[in-house]
Amino acid sequence: MKNKLFWKISAVFLIILVAIASGFIYITAYTSRTYFEEANQKLNGSIAEQTVKEVKPLVDGVVDTNAIQDIMHSMMVINPSVEVYLLDTVGNIITYVAPYKKVKLKQVSLEPLHTFISGEKGKIIRGDDPRNPGQSKVFSAAPIKDKDILQGYVYVILASEEQTSVMATLFGSYILSIGVETILISLLVALILGVLAFLYLTRNLHKIMYTVKRFKEGDLAVRANTNGDFAELGETFNEMADQIVDNINQLKSVEKLRRELIANVSHDLRTPLAVMSGYIETLMIKKDLNEKSRDKYLRIVHDSNENLSKLIDQLFEYSKLEAHEIVPQKEPFQIADLIQDILMKFDVIASHKNIKIEMLSPQNLPMVFADIALVERAISNLLDNSIKYGKENGHVIIKLEDSPSSVAINITDDGPGIPEQEQSYIFERYRRGDRTKTARKGAGLGLAIVKKILEIHNQSIRVLSESGNGATFIFNLPAYKTG
Ligand SMILES: Nc1ncnc2c1ncn2[C@@H]1O[C@H](COP(=O)(O)OP(=O)(O)OP(=O)(O)O)[C@@H](O)[C@H]1O
Ligand SMILES: [Mg+2]
Repeated sequence: MKNKLFWKISAVFLIILVAIASGFIYITAYTSRTYFEEANQKLNGSIAEQTVKEVKPLVDGVVDTNAIQDIMHSMMVINPSVEVYLLDTVGNIITYVAPYKKVKLKQVSLEPLHTFISGEKGKIIRGDDPRNPGQSKVFSAAPIKDKDILQGYVYVILASEEQTSVMATLFGSYILSIGVETILISLLVALILGVLAFLYLTRNLHKIMYTVKRFKEGDLAVRANTNGDFAELGETFNEMADQIVDNINQLKSVEKLRRELIANVSHDLRTPLAVMSGYIETLMIKKDLNEKSRDKYLRIVHDSNENLSKLIDQLFEYSKLEAHEIVPQKEPFQIADLIQDILMKFDVIASHKNIKIEMLSPQNLPMVFADIALVERAISNLLDNSIKYGKENGHVIIKLEDSPSSVAINITDDGPGIPEQEQSYIFERYRRGDRTKTARKGAGLGLAIVKKILEIHNQSIRVLSESGNGATFIFNLPAYKTG
């Protein structure tokens, strides 16, 4: 019972076949009855007329009972199925000869009699059955006239109840005996053909269902056949499966990144903490340390502390940016002025590596419209990298350019540059260049923060670099529109 749909369709098909067969049998039975009635009326339609010719049943409105009884009885001997009635001019039953059952009607409707007498051809005419009020039967009728004056009618019910049922059953059973076998055989053939057709048609569907089931059971690589019937269903399933697999992979990589993050962060936090506690212990134990060593140790503790708080700040900032908790407080300002301020802060670390930082800015540069604190953070992170990764005695150039409705900021160093394959991912959090892996100079959050800050200003950042030839980071800030 695996292919349920197939069994259902087959069952419905069987029901339809049975319904058609029953309909056929019913129609055959009905037709056979009508056929019999029509034949009967055509063959025996003249009985009434003959009777009237043979006897004069009514003379001056008086019934000649003997004559009529005689003739009627002899008629019934020949054909016991007939019932003969004598009617007056309005249809009242004057007398009758009918076997077995009681006659219940006192009067019959004359309308069908007129139709019959007028000789209308081509269809069966049925009149009231005096023994069964409400039912109608085929009949023969003829007017009784005396010197052209209508005296009444002879009304002959041709197919009595008994005869109708006997004939119909006989005829029906005859039809059925040839019919049932034929019907059964055609039914069986149709059923077999239908079932084979359904099996063929649902074959692909069954395959797809099997695929879906296997996918559900964990075989994520299965894909449905996209040929033949139900190709669209197969394709849709395949697309859905690809999507699901993609999502799973994405979740897995996010999960992997999260693990890496925890590993990185705990490592990055642990290192300066270990350094600090080591030196602090030394300072506590060794009371006789000379001034120089003590200063050195204190400086190391101080630097580690700085690193730690910088890292925690960065983590904090990044997670806030990522959670869209930071809304930029935009205002117009001179970007050149801001950069001057930043450069002052970097003076000292730049001088450690003897790196010269220069700013090139055209006159009349428009003001930019952005969040000062965030832009300061972004430029600081970029400068921090330029100095950190730049070569000793090198140069860093910050070039400002007026571009349509914005100001372009280019920060170029002459350090080792960034290999092309790394350029695509350095803006992702915790992603650091290969060469810097061992150096562990930072957490790999700097550029990710820059990217996020620019994103909330609807801007992007790109890097131009050739390995060995320095790197240039370029981004734009919207110009402030006056008026
Ligand atoms: N100017 C540059 N020259 C060469 N490589 C760079 C430069 N700027 C960034 N990179 C590479 O891109 C990586 C990512 O930089 P990012 O600023 O995000 O992290 P980080 O500097 O390693 O750590 P953090 O900035 O969090 O202290 C760096 O590890 C480095 O490999
Ligand atoms: Mg950095």
